[in-house]
Amino acid sequence: MLVTGGAGFIGSNFIRHILTKYPHYSIINLDKLTYAGNLENLKDFEFNPNYKFVKGDILNSELVEHIAQDVDIIVHFAAETHVDRSVLDPFSFVRTNVLGTHVLLEAARKLGNKRFHHISTDEVFGSLPLEETHRSFHEETPYDPKSPYSSSKAAADHLVRAYHHTFGLPITISNCSNNYGPYQFPEKFIPLFITNLLEEKKVPLYGDGKNVRDWIHVADHSAAVDRIIHDGRIGHTYVVGANCEKSNFEITKLIVNCLGFGEEMIEYVKDRPGHDRRYSVRPHKIQAELGWNPQMNFDDGIKKTIQWYIDNPDWWRRVKSGEYLEYYDRWYNKR
Ligand code: NAD
Ligand code: TYD
Repeated sequence: MLVTGGAGFIGSNFIRHILTKYPHYSIINLDKLTYAGNLENLKDFEFNPNYKFVKGDILNSELVEHIAQDVDIIVHFAAETHVDRSVLDPFSFVRTNVLGTHVLLEAARKLGNKRFHHISTDEVFGSLPLEETHRSFHEETPYDPKSPYSSSKAAADHLVRAYHHTFGLPITISNCSNNYGPYQFPEKFIPLFITNLLEEKKVPLYGDGKNVRDWIHVADHSAAVDRIIHDGRIGHTYVVGANCEKSNFEITKLIVNCLGFGEEMIEYVKDRPGHDRRYSVRPHKIQAELGWNPQMNFDDGIKKTIQWYIDNPDWWRRVKSGEYLEYYDRWYNKR
């Protein structure tokens, strides 16, 4: 299996899931090691004979064609992933998410139509109004991406489907909701808030704090991708989520209280431009067709996640320095 972006948050959790469940599988992890890639995430697999890391860019077609020659499947996680960064620097999102996906599709085609699974997001469907609680995203929802991040992911999804229809490439796509769990880079909402509080800093809640996201533990996402790559229908898309909608305020309060603080630690800051109001996904297809169901309830998952950041200060203190601090200054000064 060639996994792209396996040194990031979800990719590294997925590789751990696969090599633990199927120890006889071999994985090549191709990752450029951007600010978000971290080899420490898979340090315990460093000497596993079935795991090989290759540092490289998915836009390097020669390299991709070379390492994909003998694989049975490409599972494509590599991407620029943070919406706030896509506001500051949209080009890198188009480059990696659109052009990079295209390079991988071409390699898969040239190498005799390799099986290809594309990891995407529910953000391609746009934003739902808070009050229309009966509405959720599903496989037939029209695309309506709103941010440079989600538009670049939407463009990639279209290319993946086009390669199936035009060249018969055996693809599947998953559009998953917001993930949380261990090894998530602390620029994203949940790990940022946990680590800020562990540093006794306030947490920056955007706008009125009423935006809603649909949360899934990364282990449940990994299990969903496992089911799709093994038994998913070729050419099909699966929407993935754990039926767990929460407002940002609710989650903030939970984290703040869990770490022994009160609401004085919440700082309401200027909203993200174009901030999507609500995401909600209906994962009926994957549940009915592939028998997948989320196993982690949010209360347990968030407690375990908070505990993971308490137990791994070296991991997050190192990544929350250098380049990260520069980005943070740029983000808050530019807005
Ligand atoms: P992440 O930012 O933690 O990791 C991305 C990884 O991709 C990093 O290791 C980085 O080094 C690598 N990468 C970036 N550009 C590259 C390039 N040009 N060549 C090779 N490697 C490159 O992201 P994540 O949160 O783990 O997300 C993984 C995938 O899942 C993405 O495709 C994302 O769109 C999708 N997704 C994420 C979420 C979420 O909540 N985080 C939800 C749904 C879907
Ligand atoms: P994020 O983790 O960036 O994921 P996405 O925007 O892709 O859903 O943000 C999750 C929610 O948290 C989103 O509504 C924006 C909000 N948020 C804040 O309120 N403050 C922050 O500092 C960050 C990073 C996010």
